[in-house]
Order: sequence, then structure tokens, then C-alpha cells
Amino acid sequence: MSESGKKRVLSGIQPSGLLTLGNYIGAMRNFVALQDECECYFTVVDLHAVTVPQDPAALRENTETVAALFVAAGIDPKKAAIFVQSHVSAHAELGWLMTTLAYMGELERMTQFKDKAAGKEAVGAGLFVYPTLMAADILLYDAHLVPVGDDQKQHLELTRDLAIRFNRRYGETFVVPEPYIPEVGARIMSLDDASKKMSKSNPNPNSYIALLDPPDTVRKKIARAKTDSGREVVFDPQHKPEISNLMTIYAQCAGVTLDEVARRFEGKGYGDFKKELAEAVISVLEPLQNTYNQIRSSGEIFDILRDGAQRASSVAEATLRRAKEAMGFLLPK
Ligand code: TYM
Repeated sequence: MSESGKKRVLSGIQPSGLLTLGNYIGAMRNFVALQDECECYFTVVDLHAVTVPQDPAALRENTETVAALFVAAGIDPKKAAIFVQSHVSAHAELGWLMTTLAYMGELERMTQFKDKAAGKEAVGAGLFVYPTLMAADILLYDAHLVPVGDDQKQHLELTRDLAIRFNRRYGETFVVPEPYIPEVGARIMSLDDASKKMSKSNPNPNSYIALLDPPDTVRKKIARAKTDSGREVVFDPQHKPEISNLMTIYAQCAGVTLDEVARRFEGKGYGDFKKELAEAVISVLEPLQNTYNQIRSSGEIFDILRDGAQRASSVAEATLRRAKEAMGFLLPK
């Protein structure tokens, strides 16, 4: 437990391009929901982003963008610490210690690694050990809860295994964290193919809604979104995966249950549903974009990140010291 007696929360998002509505519904909304009851740390994980080649100017820009989007999505920097991962050097250091604890076999089983490495001739070693750095991110803050989308579940299981292994080998040191995954919206799918996750790395921009897409772009993308045969708006992921995905997005943006979505659109066709869906998405994105523009033009994000890194460092440094002591490192006196 933290000094304040609240549960600790940590989560991170990669600064690798635009964030999508999937990131927002699957993760960021829960960041905002947890900030009142928990002591929260939210980080832009730039050290993870460089596990694949990054253009330096784009990395800098994307890091600032994602930090500003955290605030724009409703994270209050007075409540939660918002920071850039590379500003707190304990992440890289504990990341190495976690790498020494992990087995090749368990890293080889990670589906994200298998997907990213598939068909490549040369696969970076950083991509392979990526999950050990993620474990360090979480364990440094004694996080009880980690709000993430469904695709991070396997990484969370590995984090738990590493924490348990460390505690057994060197004595109770780390809190074993739990994933915090939304019941609806943990896996928002592509607009052009509901068998694939909505992702910013998809080369087809019509497959995702970016958080900074202007209203007309949102309307166009939703109008073009793939639908299933038939015309009824019913939730049936097995037989109607495309419409079920759109209904999930509607439910999350309008703040209603899936049953309520089905009731609202009973007897109406896909066309009416898509029009209202676009407006529901815009009603979430428009205020977020207004705040985002304000934050970017004020330059205040740099103060927020400085303060966040200081708060994060004081917790992370103490945990790192505890872990090094447990492992038998001679600490400077
Ligand atoms: P990343 O940057 O790919 O995604 C950030 C968060 O968004 C969620 N997400 C989705 N949720 C629902 N539907 C989707 N289509 C969708 N796409 C993305 C992800 O599950 C994630 O929660 N490895 C992490 C970053 C990370 C991290 C951490 C997370 C590094 N260290 C420590 C938690 C704790 C990643 O690549 O997320």
C-alpha cells in the first residue's frame, strides 16, 4: 500500500504514432476512472518504442503528443503522476535485472513478440526482452492494479511470474500486480476487419479512428466501416463481428449498455445506426481535442512531465534499491 493508504496503479502507452479509439476505450478511460481512488502513475513508454526503429524527430514529437493526450483524456496531473519512461532511469536498470530473471522459453511464447517478429529476417533483441522492461515498469511502483486492454494480458501474467520468482529467490520484495481490464471494450477491432485489433500501426488509416481525427474524418471512416450481411443492429460477436464491434464502440462512447444499444436501434438499419455512432464518437473526441490543443499551445506539458518524473523517481529509486539489496549488490554508503 502507498503512504496515502491507497492502492497503487501504473500503466503505460507507447509513443509510436497516433493513439486510437482502441487505446482510449481499452486503457485511458480506466486511467481516468482510477485516479480518484488510487495513487496513479501513467507513463509514455519511449524505451519500449525504440524496440523497433524510430525516426528521432518523430519520437520526440509523438512523446509530447501522447503526454498531452493523457491530460486531454482527463488525467489530472495533480492527482496522477504523468511522466516519460526515459526520464526515470530506474526503469532501464530494473529492466536489466528482470531480464536476468526471465527464461528464453517464456519470452518466446509471447504472442506480441511472435506477431512482430513474424516474417522478419533480423529481429531486434530489444523486441525479444520487451516484456521484462514492462515488468520493471510495473514492479517499480508496487502497483496493485494495471489498467490495460486485452492484448496486454499475457505480458501481465509474465510480470506476475517474474515478481513471484524474484520474491521466492530473494525474499518478499515486489507486490504481485493484477490486470484491470474493462468488461466491454477490452478489444476494439479494426473498422475494415473485425478479426484484427484496431491498431495505430495498421497501414490503412480507414481501419482506425485516431483520437485527433477531425469530426468529418470520423464521419467518413464510420460511414465506410465494414458491416455484416443482414440489417439488424444486434450484438452477436460470432455471427455479426463487424456490427458487434461498432455496437461496443457506441456503448462505450454513449455510456450505455449493449442491451440499450440494441433497444435504441431496434427496427432501424445500419445507416441510421452509423450516423448516430459517428456523433457519439465525436461527442467524446471533440472536448478531448479542444483540451489537447490548449495544452500543446501553452507548453505546460513540460512542467507536468518534470513534476511527474520527480514523483515517479522517488518511488522507483526506493524500490530499485530494495531489489538490488535483496539480490546482493553492494550498495554505495
Ligand atoms: P500500447 O501502447 O500498444 O497500447 C496502450 C494501451 O491501449 C490498449 N489497446 C487497446 N485496447 C482495446 N482495444 C484496442 N484495439 C487496443 N489497442 C491498444 C493496450 O492494451 C494498452 O493497455 N506494452 C504496452 C505498453 C506498456 C505498459 C507498461 C502497459 C509498457 N509498459 C506497463 C502497462 C504497464 C503496449 O505496447 O501498449
